[in-house]
Amino acid sequence: MRKNLFIAFEGIDGSGKSTQVKLLTEHLEKSGHKVYCTVEPTNSHIGSIIRSIFSHKIEADHRTIAGLFVADRLDHLLNKTDGILKKLDEGYTVITDRYYLSSYAYHGAHMPLEWVIGANSLSADLMRPDINIYIDIFPEISMARLKKGRTSLELFETMENLIIVREKYYEAIEKLKSVEKIFITDGNRSQELIAADIRHHLSILTLNT
Ligand code: ADP
Ligand code: TYD
Repeated sequence: MRKNLFIAFEGIDGSGKSTQVKLLTEHLEKSGHKVYCTVEPTNSHIGSIIRSIFSHKIEADHRTIAGLFVADRLDHLLNKTDGILKKLDEGYTVITDRYYLSSYAYHGAHMPLEWVIGANSLSADLMRPDINIYIDIFPEISMARLKKGRTSLELFETMENLIIVREKYYEAIEKLKSVEKIFITDGNRSQELIAADIRHHLSILTLNT
């Protein structure tokens, strides 16, 4: 049984994922864990095409974007240099800022959820997270946070879209609750309270494995 965990953070844009990844990493490293943090879209060539679409440099259909994420995720897992599977084998606790639940929510908003789940099944078969941490937040609050810190917004960062994406997250979570381990934390609170909630849940999880 692998002792080092694979943890995926999920939530709509501006929900506080990067902030919580950082806080959890600091906590785990202080407790002596080797931690590898990573993110989707990745920094690979496929990830950079996706980022160019989000920053409006190139245009693509939603189905194309969904397909690019399928490829980006497989490379994220299988890459021989710094892929997730390699890092887990090396004993790192791997924390990813987004994984396939993001695809279910963001692309499920534009095409059948079943299609998106099926298209990502190779990744799910290769590695399911030991825990998906879903930071739930009201879209009005996340939009206000995003606007405060930015001069421009990306493709999916509109209030209308984030309302739909949040609903899709709930739909996917409900549908997959028998196969995925998902912890929902209230992201409308302070960073410290959310971080403490996550640490508490992880301590219960590791005690039970
Ligand atoms: P994400 O990675 O989900 O887009 P970030 O962690 O980058 O979210 O947070 C978005 C913005 O909100 C940042 O400016 C961050 O400093 C701020 N922020 C994060 N968590 C909280 C919180 N709990 N309360 C208030 N502001 C927060
Ligand atoms: P990210 O840079 O994590 O945005 P944020 O920090 O604001 O949450 O992600 C970029 C965008 O990628 C985000 O709008 C969600 C989208 N996305 C998808 O559409 N599908 C996916 O499978 C993933 C992983 C992300």
